Amino acid sequence: MERVYNFSAGPSMLPLEVLEQAQKDFVCYKNAGMSVMEMSHRSKDFEDIIFTAEADLRELMAVPENYTILFLQGGGSTQFAMIPMNLMTKNGKADYVKTGQWSKKAISEAEKYGKVNVVASSEDKVFSYIPELDPAKFDPEADYFYMTLNNTIYGTHIPDSLIPDTKGVPVVGDMSSNILAERYDISKFGLIFAGAQKNLGPAGVTIAIVRNDLMGHAMDFTPTMLRYDIHAKEKSLYNTPPTFSIYFAGLVFQWVKKMGGIDVMQKINEEKAAILYDFLDNSKLFQGTVVKKDRSLMNVPFILPTEELNAKFISEAKAKGFVNLKGHRTVGGMRASIYNAMPVEGVKALVEFMGKFEVENK
Ligand SMILES: Cc1ncc(COP(=O)(O)O)c(C=O)c1O
Repeated sequence: MERVYNFSAGPSMLPLEVLEQAQKDFVCYKNAGMSVMEMSHRSKDFEDIIFTAEADLRELMAVPENYTILFLQGGGSTQFAMIPMNLMTKNGKADYVKTGQWSKKAISEAEKYGKVNVVASSEDKVFSYIPELDPAKFDPEADYFYMTLNNTIYGTHIPDSLIPDTKGVPVVGDMSSNILAERYDISKFGLIFAGAQKNLGPAGVTIAIVRNDLMGHAMDFTPTMLRYDIHAKEKSLYNTPPTFSIYFAGLVFQWVKKMGGIDVMQKINEEKAAILYDFLDNSKLFQGTVVKKDRSLMNVPFILPTEELNAKFISEAKAKGFVNLKGHRTVGGMRASIYNAMPVEGVKALVEFMGKFEVENK
């Protein structure tokens, strides 16, 4: 079977070139005489893999020296607990922006460890926009200020230009679905994190980038495995890390570098998103569900006038090789996730197909 255009929200499409490289290395990695999966995480070969990956990511994201890059496990969801356990420790409270399911989950997890102040929410309109942030509502004594930078389910995002000035309160950003896809100034953040399974590689590794002064103050009961300072001290090798996922993410970092880095990636992503949004804006049948100014570059939800048409579209699209377009159950309709690995041709082909569908179903 031929490869399809996979619009899955995650795990999602990976660059073909990287998959082929991993295939080449699969049985025997370079001169190691074994697969990466068979290697000790304490071996020189694996140390080279993880330290090169760390250096490449640092370069790509321009991570300042006073931040540590960690390769962790447990997905974005474990970060929802790790963040309060490690950071909500001075005044026992934090500010959260509620912009979707993932921030809701982060809020309910944080509420187990301290006081959460929701400073803004877009829940009134099914999270179809990014709420205005009013600094008067920010708590100057909050231990951190939390926001989801790209809302995978609802298709909104908070670009770098909208990261608020929190007057010294560390900003925490969930970058799970837009890491390496658009530029952020890391120095505006205290901590960012991202699961790998959208823009970085296979599920299994979670990246956290933590400002050094925020580590070492975890709540007493924090399990060792959930302390940033322990992982930092051990260079992400405290225990056996997800070696293959880290190796693969390292290949993706090299691929992004070869593509020209984040700024080039962002231009391509803007181009891809514009193709899809322009089509939606001009269509009499399809309709985008997100307020224009807050549209994500990565996840594009859209609907047709009836449930029957939604189902027909998803089924016909699948038959043509455009798969995983079904929207999240809380939004309905469709969602096209167009992460870094989705080529411009994939989006153009989808839009062409949508155009034909519109003519046939007027
Ligand atoms: C923005 C965002 N945050 C967090 C998560 C949770 O990640 P995980 O499934 O790795 O726990 C997801 C998953 O899709 C996500 O999209």
